[in-house]
Amino acid sequence: MLKLGVNIDHVATLRQARYRGLPGGEPCPVEAARICLETGAHGITAHLREDRRHILDDDIVALRRLVTTRFNLEIANVPEIIDIAVRVKPDIVCLVPERREEITTEGGLDVVAAESSLGECRRRLNDAGIAVSLFIGPDAEQIEASARIGAQFIELHTGPYAHAFHSKRERIVEIERLVTASRLAHGLGLRVNAGHGLNVENVPILHVVPHLEELNIGHSLISRAVFKGLAASVKEMLQAMEGYRG
Ligand code: PXP
Repeated sequence: MLKLGVNIDHVATLRQARYRGLPGGEPCPVEAARICLETGAHGITAHLREDRRHILDDDIVALRRLVTTRFNLEIANVPEIIDIAVRVKPDIVCLVPERREEITTEGGLDVVAAESSLGECRRRLNDAGIAVSLFIGPDAEQIEASARIGAQFIELHTGPYAHAFHSKRERIVEIERLVTASRLAHGLGLRVNAGHGLNVENVPILHVVPHLEELNIGHSLISRAVFKGLAASVKEMLQAMEGYRG
């Protein structure tokens, strides 16, 4: 079964728009996570950015307490943030590139260029009992490097697929890249997740990509929740994911 990990960063984005620097505030991302889990989401994803623009340290401590299924913490390969992950102990850490000026995570990691430092980071996290995932483009070199450093998972960057979605020709090219990448990763013993830019319109076509375990989805779910409520938004996505054959 294809699992849904809900990325709740944008609930925190809305809170920070009004409550930055103040205690508490609404909407609470931990309460959002509770609703998602009660509605059938399989896990929760949050990104603790160095600039703390949305999710805060207290949020991830509370999320760790709440989420008994799968808490996936996205972080950059930065010592101070890795120390926090080691203390909080999410089930999975997904390493992502992070640039302060970006609106959201824009590209995948360059695992080839940072092989030794990512390998070191992978060892530290695994030694703390945390599985490691690498957010990468559907690129053979990056997948092979991910296997070499001993990651348990990769998360395939579906942003280019999502952007190409409305052009049939480009969409086919991007889907084929994802299919080839997922097969290669699976053959190398990596477990495969995917995420970025996914929504109820583009997820059904993603069913042709084999070996996927979990989709991490945030922006579209939270956007649609503004009009229909979070539980209805999660339900609609779970329906779009039903029937995946792997
Ligand atoms: N996966 C990763 C690694 C991400 O950085 C993001 C964006 O925070 C997502 C998934 C979710 O992307 P979106 O918000 O576009 O659904």
